[in-house]
Amino acid sequence: MPQGTRFMGILSVPRSAWNHACHDPQEQTMTYVVRRIEPGEWQQLRALRLEALQDSPSAFGTTYTDAAALADEAWQQQAEQDANSSTSATFVATTLDGHWVGMAGSAPVEVVPGTYCIQGVYVTPAHRGRPGGLAARLVDVAITWARDNTDASWLTLGVHEDNQRAQAFYRRIGFTETGKVVPCRLDPSRKVTILGYEKFRLTTAR
Ligand SMILES: CC(C)(COP(=O)(O)OP(=O)(O)OC[C@H]1O[C@@H](n2cnc3c(N)ncnc32)[C@H](O)[C@@H]1OP(=O)(O)O)[C@@H](O)C(=O)NCCC(=O)NCCS
Repeated sequence: MPQGTRFMGILSVPRSAWNHACHDPQEQTMTYVVRRIEPGEWQQLRALRLEALQDSPSAFGTTYTDAAALADEAWQQQAEQDANSSTSATFVATTLDGHWVGMAGSAPVEVVPGTYCIQGVYVTPAHRGRPGGLAARLVDVAITWARDNTDASWLTLGVHEDNQRAQAFYRRIGFTETGKVVPCRLDPSRKVTILGYEKFRLTTAR
């Protein structure tokens, strides 16, 4: 069992809430470990990020081609930063046998002082669709880290205007419209909607 400050918890999701990740019909739950990534886990980070970019090409701010072309050293630096930085962090969900199935991060919005954002949210398709489940837990951990480790007053995220599933998910867990839209980095003719988390600094939010 993982120990220490990087360990954020065990999550067990009832089998009735699964999509198609159930490999053992005798099991009643699917159990995940949610934790901050370790500095040496750059290969796992690369694999899941590349999977995310292939699965959802318009959902993130970079392309699969660009990410796949990055040198190993770039991934090593990214993993080190995601693991150890005091200003940003990335969290992963793994199955009990260590397979990475989801991630989410917290980072400052450099152009908006006092604001953090949730970024890089991804759950591998077989593990999606669990109300109160994995995606919500990952985002909650990233929110909690930003609340507990930064002085940020505001928490936001950007979601592509066509990403209806992510928009429904974020709204269900408490994100609301800010009224702001920005051009999509990969295709400026399309829009990214900025959602805000009003409960970020409310003590009752947890
Ligand atoms: C975004 C993501 C993390 C959400 O996790 P998830 O497990 O799919 O989320 P859930 O199933 O709990 O919630 C999805 C919601 O979208 C709804 N939904 C599903 N398919 C949909 C569709 N095609 N159109 C609109 N809504 C849809 C579901 O009904 C659910 O809403 P509800 O709870 O109000 O019923 C996951 O879908 C994912 O990794 N997507 C690809 C990457 C991505 O888009 N990341 C976000 C970048 S901003």
